[in-house]
Amino acid sequence: MARRKLVYEGKAKILYEGPEPGTLVQYFKDDATAGNGEKRDTIDGKGALNNRLSEYFMTGLGTIGVPTHFIKRLNMREQLIRAVEIIPLEVVVRNVAAGSICERLGIEEGTPMPRPIVEFYLKNDDLNDPIVSEEHIIAFGWAAQQDLDDMVSLALRVNDFLSGLMLGVGIKLVDFKIEIGRVWDNEFMRLIVADEISPDSCRLWDIETNRKLDKDVFRRDLGDLADAYTEVARRLGVMPQGPSGVSRPTLIN
Ligand code: TMP
Repeated sequence: MARRKLVYEGKAKILYEGPEPGTLVQYFKDDATAGNGEKRDTIDGKGALNNRLSEYFMTGLGTIGVPTHFIKRLNMREQLIRAVEIIPLEVVVRNVAAGSICERLGIEEGTPMPRPIVEFYLKNDDLNDPIVSEEHIIAFGWAAQQDLDDMVSLALRVNDFLSGLMLGVGIKLVDFKIEIGRVWDNEFMRLIVADEISPDSCRLWDIETNRKLDKDVFRRDLGDLADAYTEVARRLGVMPQGPSGVSRPTLIN
């Protein structure tokens, strides 16, 4: 059987060469890791859920004019994406204190931020993705000042869009991480949202109960991760057929 060329394998996804130049196939694995790979497990259905949810968020962003790498979903676990040159920074937006900001700054979990806080982390597993300042980014050439301005603007647009979407289904968008890539249209370079947007890369709390509906369920052993992700997909109407549809092949247009 002919094998596709593997371009990159990460903890939760694999990238294969796409059918045309400038495209890639992004495959969502069922693997879950936390603490830079220290805790790991396989969660049935996670890959299919994240594929669907990332498609849903990226498509929605496209409709409001936020450029993303998403082209189309190919099947349960794969989507066709534009190849980008990933900027080696994770862009985190926080609306409510949770996770590392609580430990770093001694803020109590659940404290609302006075305004959305945008942070940058260097993508470097060996260093545990350290937080970096704009000064570091410019001085060490990871991105230019104009890129940074564009990244903040993209991140805040994604935040507004996702916050509203989630609020509509009774979910608080506590924080999220995106990755951004460069693409060239002729000689013009622009930045687009890449990687994935899913409950793996967001913190999502039920508005009423603060039930965690994101990867913290796995990180903190709070229950069944696939149940939490299915709940997000169900509320958004992304998998109207319900949890059983996760493992059932469906026709796509
Ligand atoms: P943090 O509180 O651990 O810094 O995480 C902030 C947000 O970024 C949270 O929604 C989880 C997400 N995130 C990732 O998606 N990947 C990562 O490697 C890290 C550190 C955080």
